[in-house]
Amino acid sequence: MKIPDNRGTGNNISKKENPMIDHPVRLPDRQPVLRLVPMPRNENMFGDIFGGWIMSHVDVAGGIAAMRHARGRCATVAVNAFQFRQPVSSGDVVSFYADVIKTGRTSITVAVEVYAERHPQNPVTVKVTEATLTYVALDSGGGKRGLPEETQVE
Ligand SMILES: CC(C)(COP(=O)(O)OP(=O)(O)OC[C@H]1O[C@@H](n2cnc3c(N)ncnc32)[C@H](O)[C@@H]1OP(=O)(O)O)[C@@H](O)C(=O)NCCC(=O)NCCS
Repeated sequence: MKIPDNRGTGNNISKKENPMIDHPVRLPDRQPVLRLVPMPRNENMFGDIFGGWIMSHVDVAGGIAAMRHARGRCATVAVNAFQFRQPVSSGDVVSFYADVIKTGRTSITVAVEVYAERHPQNPVTVKVTEATLTYVALDSGGGKRGLPEETQVE
């Protein structure tokens, strides 16, 4: 069912296209670590963006936050949680936000949130994915490295 949109463009948007229409979502008020537009070549056979495309960019986004925090090389050691909340489509502007939520002696746990901005003529924002990943700081030889003390997060 098409329901009237309240942004004054005269276009309608369905609840299926934007299930959050009654509760508009806004982008976080800070810089994303990554912002990309997926192309038709990133689609699966059903026309949605392939989950692996999103997962690989979540890993890159989390890795950027981890490497900034560790001040050097890191490797992904675990994907602790990963939830696809809504599909992504070709042409969506997809923003990846990453926050360090925990550190250990060598490890950094990062929460990544992904938002899609759709329909530029009648914009809506949807949170599409949430994930938590753990990275380990590495030395130049690929061995574990203790995090700099001043970067510890409780
Ligand atoms: C990363 C690596 C060097 C860690 O070596 P390891 O001897 O297994 O390390 P440990 O078991 O001591 O774990 C290191 C840290 O990671 C944490 N960790 C390990 N496995 C984890 C898991 N499944 N979930 C959460 N944290 C984990 C540990 O708790 C530890 O944290 P701390 O030092 O802050 O207490 C090694 O596992 C490795 O090389 N893995 C491959 C990495 C890779 O190729 N990633 C994909 C491409 S980037």
